[in-house]
Formats: sequence, structure tokens, C-alpha cells
Amino acid sequence: MRLTSVGRLGSDQVESVLRAAVLAPSTHNTQPWLFRCTPGGIELHADVSRVLPATDPDQRELLLSCGAALFNLRTAIHALGTHPATVLRPRRDEPTLLAVVRPFAAHAADARYSVLAKAIPHRHTNRQPFRAARVPPAVIANLRHAAEAEHAWMPVLDSPQRERLRGLVEQAHEAQLADSAFLAEWRQWTGRANHSRDGVPVRAAGNDNWALRDFGEATGPQGHGGPPGEPFIVVLGSFGDDPIDRLRAGQAMQRLLLTATAAGLDASFISQPVEVPSARRELRQLLGGGLWPQMVLRVGYGSPATWTPRRPLTEVLLDDRLLSA
Ligand SMILES: Cc1cc2nc3c(=O)[nH]c(=O)nc-3n(C[C@H](O)[C@H](O)[C@H](O)COP(=O)(O)O)c2cc1C
Repeated sequence: MRLTSVGRLGSDQVESVLRAAVLAPSTHNTQPWLFRCTPGGIELHADVSRVLPATDPDQRELLLSCGAALFNLRTAIHALGTHPATVLRPRRDEPTLLAVVRPFAAHAADARYSVLAKAIPHRHTNRQPFRAARVPPAVIANLRHAAEAEHAWMPVLDSPQRERLRGLVEQAHEAQLADSAFLAEWRQWTGRANHSRDGVPVRAAGNDNWALRDFGEATGPQGHGGPPGEPFIVVLGSFGDDPIDRLRAGQAMQRLLLTATAAGLDASFISQPVEVPSARRELRQLLGGGLWPQMVLRVGYGSPATWTPRRPLTEVLLDDRLLSA
């Protein structure tokens, strides 16, 4: 496969940055993104054929997933010494065009982006129990800075807030178990054969109960950020909740996840309290009413996690006239 060159990026570099982009996490590994390479830049589009109507009716998580892919794309371009000038939702009349990245200007190498770019292929959702090792405060500060650098916020939870959040997770989980459309979608996209190109394969899901994961599964006597033996819980919030805020939140989520990976940490998603609208409203109140909760993550030290497959690049490119043999 040979791609067109874009700006300062030769065709091999365009291919390598797109390969980095598609390693982003996405709800049920739907990979709801498409790319178009034009002389003016690399476009990121939402793949609306991959919407999850029951799990994600307002496509908030689709935008988070695409935001994560956008952060990988920007980071991989940065690491090549090129500035990824990015415009979000550039055309009002084309809402599925989420961003254009224009790699036209050189910039001085930035070690922070090189570290994050190296972490991209090593980040995997880890649904297994974590060890009870403490996440050092300096690393937690780095996670917070990662969120802030992308216009989002990682609030500190005190013990009562954490307990209340645990209750919301349980409440939201029960609501989802009672929702037959949600369950049908969950069954459709998880427990896939390991060679499947999308969805969550059996080997990554671990077992049928991964949706039941809770806060208290770290082993051993000492966790951090909560009662002994519990992993560190991150709530990622944004300052607004429109499509651009959600795209920004997805970029912040991915920056935070890559920062965690680079520090040797594992993470998994606890999306129940942001997927069920009543729980999300309560979580927003719990955070003081000023932030829109976008994702809850469990962060800690796990044993090596397994990778999930991705669609081939040819399936996520919108204009294959730009491919040459
Ligand atoms: C917005 C969003 C919500 C997610 N929700 C969950 C979840 O509730 N439970 C879960 O186990 N994984 C969840 N995931 C993780 C995806 O299943 C995972 O990213 C996907 O299978 C690809 O695997 P990878 O992250 O290892 O690359 C979520 C990911 C995203 C981006």
C-alpha cells in the first residue's frame, strides 16, 4: 500500500501516523473513525455506520474515541518533528468531519511527545485485577497535567466522593443490565473470536463478567487513592459538553492514558456512570456541578495486558484513489 504524501510527511510517514491513530481505544473496539488524506491535510471523520444507539445514543463516546485517535495522530506527527496544526470541526455543514490536521511546519523535537508516541503501541485496556502497589503522587500529578494540557480536568476525589461514585457505578451497572437493547449491543460487540478485526476479543475481555468490574479488585494490602487494596480512580471532566468539548475530552483521555502507559501503569474504563444519563447527572453534581464527567478510569499496576485487533488501514481510508500500488 502506498499513500499520498501530505505537507511535510512523505507517504511512508503518512502511513505510520495513521497506523498510530487507529491504535486508540474505542467503545467496544468499534473503531468509529475514517481518514481522508488530501493535499491540504489529514481529515478525521466519524464513521457513523459504527454508532452504538443503545450504549451511546448521543454519540458522546464516539467523539471521545475519535478524539483519542486524533491525539495519537497529532502525537505521532509531533514525534516526526512536524507541527500538527489542528482545526476541530472545520465545516459547520459537515458535522461528521471532526478535524483536519495540517502537517506543514517543522518544529523543534519535543521529548514529551516522543515519550508519548513510544507509548502508543504499548497501551492496552487491562481488565484484569491490579496489584496493590501505590501509584506515586508525582505520577498522579503527571496524569492531572496531561488532562489539563488538553483542556480537560482531573478532579481529586475525597473518600466520601469516591464511595458515592462506587454507588453510582453499581446503580448504573444495574440499569444497564436491565436494558435489553444495551445488552444486545454488548453481546454483539464483545466475546468476539480472537482473529476478528473489530469488537472485543475473548482474550481481552477475560470473562463474561468484565462489565461487572468494580473498584475493589486490587490484590494485597495497600492501594492508593482510596481504602487499602483499591486501585486509583480517575474521573476525567470537561468544561463544556458540546461536540468540540467531547473531542477535546477524548484527546485529554488519550494523553492521560499514554502518560500512564509511559509511567508503567495500566488502565481500564469504568464507563457505566457516564453512559447512564441519571448517573452522569449525579456524578456531575458530585463533582460540584461545574464539570461534565466524560470518563471514569481505573489506573494501577497490572500484569501484561493483551492487544486487541484493528481494522486494516484500507478499511478506514475514505478515498482510496489516493492509494497507489
Ligand atoms: C469511550 C470508551 C468507553 C469504553 N468503555 C469500556 C467499558 O465500559 N468497559 C471496558 O471493559 N472497556 C471499555 N472501553 C475500552 C474498549 O473496549 C477498548 O478500548 C477497545 O476494546 C480497544 O482495546 P484497547 O484499548 O486495548 O486498544 C472503552 C473505551 C472507550 C474509548
